[in-house]
Amino acid sequence: MRIYLIGAGVIGRYHAEAIRKLPAGEPVELKAADPNVQALAAFTETFPEAKSYSDARSMLAEPAREDDIVIVGTPPFTHFELSRMALESGRHVLCEKPLVMNGQEAKVLLETAKRHNRMLGCCSDRFLGLCKTEEIKSMLHSQTLGEVYKVTFVYRNQRARAGVEYQKESKWFLDRAKSAGGILMDWGPYDFTVLNDLLQPESIEVAAAWTSKPVTQADPADTTYDVEGHVGAMLKYCLAGGKSVWVQYERASCTHGEPYHHVELEGTLGAVKWSPYFETDQIDYKRDKEGQVETTENLMAHNGPFTVMDHPIYYFYLKVKGLDSQATINEQAVFNFQCLQAIYDCAESGTPQTVPHSVL
Ligand SMILES: NC(=O)c1ccc[n+]([C@@H]2O[C@H](COP(=O)([O-])OP(=O)(O)OC[C@H]3O[C@@H](n4cnc5c(N)ncnc54)[C@H](O)[C@@H]3O)[C@@H](O)[C@H]2O)c1
Repeated sequence: MRIYLIGAGVIGRYHAEAIRKLPAGEPVELKAADPNVQALAAFTETFPEAKSYSDARSMLAEPAREDDIVIVGTPPFTHFELSRMALESGRHVLCEKPLVMNGQEAKVLLETAKRHNRMLGCCSDRFLGLCKTEEIKSMLHSQTLGEVYKVTFVYRNQRARAGVEYQKESKWFLDRAKSAGGILMDWGPYDFTVLNDLLQPESIEVAAAWTSKPVTQADPADTTYDVEGHVGAMLKYCLAGGKSVWVQYERASCTHGEPYHHVELEGTLGAVKWSPYFETDQIDYKRDKEGQVETTENLMAHNGPFTVMDHPIYYFYLKVKGLDSQATINEQAVFNFQCLQAIYDCAESGTPQTVPHSVL
């Protein structure tokens, strides 16, 4: 099969590493396009198996085959045009997060994918399928926690701004016209992909939301820096059967307040706390025993051959091959993105927003 990579930057390298690990049932031909000569040269030095191109359009000019995959690994402001072009070339598209710049672009991309009978995937599924989060999912299915009425999803870092504290050369992270937003567009895609996979909402209401941009002496003066560093929202997840759960959401890449993370589900019979990301593989389950709180700690490390950085292309590859996988595609990929857009819309307008599951 053939995999076409658009963008040979930091994430492009992770995808190329992952492609080397794909099941060796057939050889994978890798092609990569990037107009940045240095980036492309550095990429092909590490991945000499890749055929290189200076622009994506000429790379995609050859006739498409049924299982061709295009990975869009460029900055967000280019995702829409590049993904649309790739879908129109007759190929499945796996796009980096955030999927696009706004809700309208997401809708048009989904329409384009449908019209060409191709799949549109989003790399925000990177953290799906981890043993610890699958365990939480099975606790939900078995009603171990009783009626779940509240979810807390809070990640607060004091100084972790993409483009300031790490990856300094990629200034686009700080410019909303290029990145679509700050910490909500950087980590929110993962947060809502995990939350939506867990809770399977039929729709979501953003009841209240806010954003802020805390100021520090490390703020760069030599580049546009207009993205939020701190965001919060209260969301009502409307579930099947008329049930609902409140989700308290907060993300900070920059705050002068306390740094901590807290991800917990609370139900009428118990509560469970864990980290869906890197911090810990420990699951803390609390319930009542004879009027006292009993805590059970369970360690659930992820031992699969594929790392979280490998997951997006691995899951998408399986999906394209017609196999079961955790790939986040089409309506679900767009729904996950619309949650982010709705938080910005609510914060900016002060008006509650509803996110229906299907936009078409
Ligand atoms: N860096 C990370 O750790 C990371 C992790 C997960 C996801 N992502 C996502 O991956 C995407 C890219 O981020 P990055 O960190 O790799 O950025 P980067 O700045 O390191 O690389 C982006 C590359 O895209 C190239 N590019 C720009 N326009 C192009 C075009 N029209 N055609 C082909 N190439 C083009 C640039 O020349 C550059 O080499 C973003 O959406 C980001 O959110 C990044």
